[in-house]
Amino acid sequence: MKFFADTADVDEIRDLAETGLIDGVTTNPSLVAKTGRDFKKTIREICALVDGPVSAEVAATDADGMIEEGRELAKIADNVAIKVPLTWDGLKACRTLTQAGTKVNVTLCFSANQALLAAKAGASFVSPFIGRLDDIGLDGMELIGEIRAIYDNYEVLKTEILAASIRSPNQVKLAALAGADVATIPPSIIKGLVNHPLTDKGIATFMADWNKTGQSIT
Ligand code: E4P
Repeated sequence: MKFFADTADVDEIRDLAETGLIDGVTTNPSLVAKTGRDFKKTIREICALVDGPVSAEVAATDADGMIEEGRELAKIADNVAIKVPLTWDGLKACRTLTQAGTKVNVTLCFSANQALLAAKAGASFVSPFIGRLDDIGLDGMELIGEIRAIYDNYEVLKTEILAASIRSPNQVKLAALAGADVATIPPSIIKGLVNHPLTDKGIATFMADWNKTGQSIT
């Protein structure tokens, strides 16, 4: 499974990119607002740090506006992916931008039928929001499984399932088990994936025993 960093914070992305574990980045208007920085400048900086797709979301809600903004954002760098909402207009914009050779991430997906539409519109990615479904008492992970099953039924559907709105390390594991192609994950959770108390305990024991040997390796 590919990992995208779900943030617009350039410093966090630089830190993660140095590990080689990051295959792309997703931003959204809320994440951009949180940085307080210029949107296009931020996307340009992120694109220079990461080779993979960097999602930049349109602000327009009509198809023509989304297409115009998408074309503008796509000029920033070759690895920009345009994020459009899963609406009728978003699907039209997805088709036009995709036909022009731009990767499109159709976002705010909350149902399997929406994901089917995104794939038929030629989206490179569809983003089901797991956490926000769980927040209202539904099962976000079940949706990932449904989309996986549908896409696997039709070889012609090439859209990648990008599990989004991830709130815990356990959801990363469950998304991988459910067959998501990509998980976009907040940096704190990516870093949290490495933690295990038995690893820490094991290191402490090995170090204590090693020190008893009085040896040094170098
Ligand atoms: C996805 O691309 C979104 O940026 C993100 O995952 C939304 O997550 P949230 O529900 O935590 O805001």
